[in-house]
Amino acid sequence: MVENNSYMNLPKIHSISKKILVGALGAFLSFFLLFHASANLLILRHDGGEWYNAFCHFMGTYVIVKVLEIGLFAALLLHAGLAIWLAITNKMARPKGYHKPQRSKTHTGSKLQMWTGILIFACLIMHFTDFYFVKIGWVKGKYMVNTEELMKMKATQPAAVSFAEQRGELSAKGNWIANLTADDKAVLQEAGVEVEPDFYHQAREKFKVLYIVIAYLVFFTVVWFHLRHGFAAIFQTFGLYNYKYSRAIEVLGQIFTWGVCLMFTTVVLLVYFGL
Ligand code: HEM
Repeated sequence: MVENNSYMNLPKIHSISKKILVGALGAFLSFFLLFHASANLLILRHDGGEWYNAFCHFMGTYVIVKVLEIGLFAALLLHAGLAIWLAITNKMARPKGYHKPQRSKTHTGSKLQMWTGILIFACLIMHFTDFYFVKIGWVKGKYMVNTEELMKMKATQPAAVSFAEQRGELSAKGNWIANLTADDKAVLQEAGVEVEPDFYHQAREKFKVLYIVIAYLVFFTVVWFHLRHGFAAIFQTFGLYNYKYSRAIEVLGQIFTWGVCLMFTTVVLLVYFGL
């Protein structure tokens, strides 16, 4: 009897650990979003990409950051994969559904969560095409070179150095020659110059186009809905959402969700309006 009981409880235990993992990964991804949105504010500086590109260069240079990036992608896939698996196993455990239609807040929330999650994945394809795929060479974009590194080549490759100086734009403190095109990149790479993506000019160019701005505003709205429900759900999963703290969690959730989404939105809108 006991054995039978423990056997019957097995899938339940599994579901709970899956749910905890989905919550923990969701919390990690939320921190990433806060970090990402805050860093993006550097795009608003009119410094020719001095700060934002220095930040992106840092993110692309160090091994530890690269390991974190792999961890981030793994977390993203695992979070989505487990959430879908949970939804499918929950549905299979209750194939006929409830007799009365379910209208509880959590039920509607979880359903919304599934759809907004899928939409976020679709939006991420657009987002990666605009930025990340430029970095890994799948898509063409804007590029830059580090001035100090370039100057080391003045004696051996004077033509390439003056080419970069003529074609590109010097950032505020002169650390980067940026706003180079894919054709410029090809010429410079031919001469052995190390070229990297210039996400500052890339973002400033993209967010000048109305349909891209609208697509990103839709993206942020979907993120808003996903975070709005996800924030409280994380606390619920860890058993911290009770009558004593529910109000505080609600307020914190509002601040976090609006804060992150407004930071993303501010960048896109201010760039669009040329501010
Ligand atoms: C104004 C809005 C945004 C801008 C300007 C922006 C910019 C960027 C840039 C430049 C990169 C490449 C960074 C690099 O690889 O060095 C990137 C990567 C990424 N972004 Fe965004 N992003 C925005 C919004 C978002 C949103 C709303 C999400 C998620 C919901 C998101 C998720 C990601 C992820 C997962 C990566 C890949 C990881 C990485 O390379 O760090 N981004 N973004």
